[in-house]
Amino acid sequence: MSSSAVIIDCDPGVDDGVALLLAFAAPDMLELRGITTVGGNVAAPLTARNACLIREIAGREDVPVHAGCARPLRREPVEAGHFHGESGLGDLPTGSPRKGPEALHAVEFLIHELTHAAAASISLVITGPMTNVATAIQRRPEVLRGIREFAIMGGARSAGGNITPSAEYNIYADPHAAQVVFNAGPPVYAFGLDATHQVRATPARTAALGALETPAARAAFDLLEFSNALPANGPREQGSPLHDPCPIAWLIDPSLFEFRRCHVDVETESALTAGHTAVEFRPRADRVQNVQWAVRANGDGIFALLTKRLAQSGKA
Ligand code: BDR
Ligand code: CA
Repeated sequence: MSSSAVIIDCDPGVDDGVALLLAFAAPDMLELRGITTVGGNVAAPLTARNACLIREIAGREDVPVHAGCARPLRREPVEAGHFHGESGLGDLPTGSPRKGPEALHAVEFLIHELTHAAAASISLVITGPMTNVATAIQRRPEVLRGIREFAIMGGARSAGGNITPSAEYNIYADPHAAQVVFNAGPPVYAFGLDATHQVRATPARTAALGALETPAARAAFDLLEFSNALPANGPREQGSPLHDPCPIAWLIDPSLFEFRRCHVDVETESALTAGHTAVEFRPRADRVQNVQWAVRANGDGIFALLTKRLAQSGKA
């Protein structure tokens, strides 16, 4: 299989951190054009710094990081530091990375890359609030031409929400941006809680990762241990859900997931259900079914992939 050109828009974030480590460890499959960061789990300056720190751990300073929007399109920011620690990276040691973000704003970077790319050539992974991407689309709709697909972590249907009864965090944090992305036109592969709750960091699954000695594997293990120790993530034996690595794992090995085709709209106004993803599986003449909704994930397979890749990370 040939490699895909990929941009990752994220808000690291413990599980974004693991997602980036996995992506950095797959240079044969993913041609990483850049990482863009957004305010989300923690404030925007921290998500940009954290992406740079993870990049350094992976030894991939060849990939540019671009810092982006600090605030959602219309709502007030909602952070999730209680799930990610004050720094956003759990207990990992933080400080200043050797190399910081580029001067170019994430939205400008997205516009530049996507308008200069061949048609339908870039897989755009989003693992945070979708503010950067929606802003780029609104400013320059022609960016859509360069997008092969969106692979997003976000949304919930059967699993219910994780920040309100019906909303998943990434959608809730900027529902207006999510509505733009889901309905922009290019195919959307959505990895919501229905799928990511099937990918749990159980002790049996993380043991192999914990036995590895590469810096990337050690960092991933520490990030997962931080999540597993949080009472909000349930009993340790159950394991915390591994959200953000899912779209990256899919790009590397599509056989790890099953999907159902649908249309998705996002509730943007209701105080009670803002951020709810209304998933319509029934075909209707007035709704384009451009979304593939992940309904099944191979948790063992995803952890095996993560372990195999991080065992090699940083090795020539
Ligand atoms: C999503 O919310 C964030 O806190 C995580 O990083 C993930 O992207 C899960 O709902
Ligand atoms: Ca995230």
